Amino acid sequence: MDHFEYRNGILHAEDVPLTRIAAEVGTPVYVYSRATLTRHARVFRDALAGLDPLICYAVKANGNQAVLKLLAAEGYGADVVSAGEMKRALAAGIPAGKIVFSGVAKTDAEIRAALEAGILQFNVESDAELDAIEQVAAAMGVTARVSLRINPDVDAGTHAKITTGKADNKFGIAWDRAIDVYAHARRLPHVEATGIDLHIGSQLSKLEPFEAAFTRTVELIRRLKAEGHPIRHLDLGGGLGIPYSDETPPAPQAYAEMVHRVTGDLDLKLIFEPGRVIVGNAGLMLSEVVYVKETASKRFLILDAGMNDLMRPALYDAYHEVVAVTEPAAGAARAPVEIVGPVCESTDVFARERPMPPVARGDLVAFRSAGAYGATMSNTYNARELVPEVLVDGDRYAVIRPRQTVDELIAMDRVPDWI
Ligand code: LLP
Repeated sequence: MDHFEYRNGILHAEDVPLTRIAAEVGTPVYVYSRATLTRHARVFRDALAGLDPLICYAVKANGNQAVLKLLAAEGYGADVVSAGEMKRALAAGIPAGKIVFSGVAKTDAEIRAALEAGILQFNVESDAELDAIEQVAAAMGVTARVSLRINPDVDAGTHAKITTGKADNKFGIAWDRAIDVYAHARRLPHVEATGIDLHIGSQLSKLEPFEAAFTRTVELIRRLKAEGHPIRHLDLGGGLGIPYSDETPPAPQAYAEMVHRVTGDLDLKLIFEPGRVIVGNAGLMLSEVVYVKETASKRFLILDAGMNDLMRPALYDAYHEVVAVTEPAAGAARAPVEIVGPVCESTDVFARERPMPPVARGDLVAFRSAGAYGATMSNTYNARELVPEVLVDGDRYAVIRPRQTVDELIAMDRVPDWI
């Protein structure tokens, strides 16, 4: 459920007509609904409540300070994959003790910064990283808490570009090496390996791959415990999908019940790292039709938003529902169009053969389900201004990231005095 709906023929975010945001802030622009975001955060948290978990929101999905502050207020921690994301989480008031640090390429400087901040744990992805953490912690005279990220070699059944839990991915420590790597960790005096971690992919629309991966991991935990390893944390990662079109991903409640069934008697502190399921459907991207172009074979809607503003379709062939902000007349005929952006790349296509009601130059359209991996992946290719973000709360809204201007971009460049 979300709070984007037509009222009096105009699509609203909560009580604010999107036409007003377009007129006052300009397009393209991301628009988030506070009520939707909070609702999703609570539904997920409440579904898991019986498991007494720590929920570490995956900052990469949407790292805006306003979003992070709302989630901090709901008791969320953070899953970060860089010192930058850690800084964002800390700046928003998420306590270091609720931050887990994932990612395959943590640098010594990042490890040091995280140890200085006192984060809860590193999710370690390789032997080499374990050794690096040992060295940095030793030099600082501290002990680092770590979980080893185990790659369960399970096919998540999701898009190949966002799957992470197969043996040939760069992520995690190979399943069959886990016992050895824990034994190695145990010999390191400045590392305390009390956790196990996995994350098999994103936008999963079925429970079965999760269940297969969690079951394998639980078997491994039993073996590790039998060998005397003090495993106390189990981090189950993120990955729960959302409906972009006609998918029917499992409800958080069903996911929670499965987790309970699989991990039931193990007496472990559970950690979750949801991203998309919290913010995905709490946001949309608003754009204006610049031209309608007819060629011999096609009709193009050319928008003022491009692949630099919303990269998902170009990168993963991702589907986003595109709706007209002015409600189409009941029974309005729909004709297939190609929805494209202004970027000089032939992959700058949002949708092909998409049935759309009549839309003209100057009309507004909205890309639904764009709250996750939209603004965070945007960039300024083609010297396009960085897309702004707006948060709506009832009948008010605030710009939570202003549009970065081209003058500001140019000001970042430095011309050496030998030119
Ligand atoms: N934990 C780890 C270690 C992750 O790598 C990710 C996502 C998450 C948690 C959160 O996953 P979620 O709950 O959001 O599925 N840009 C892509 C998605 C990339 C996901 C990367 N890792 C997209 O737009 O679909």
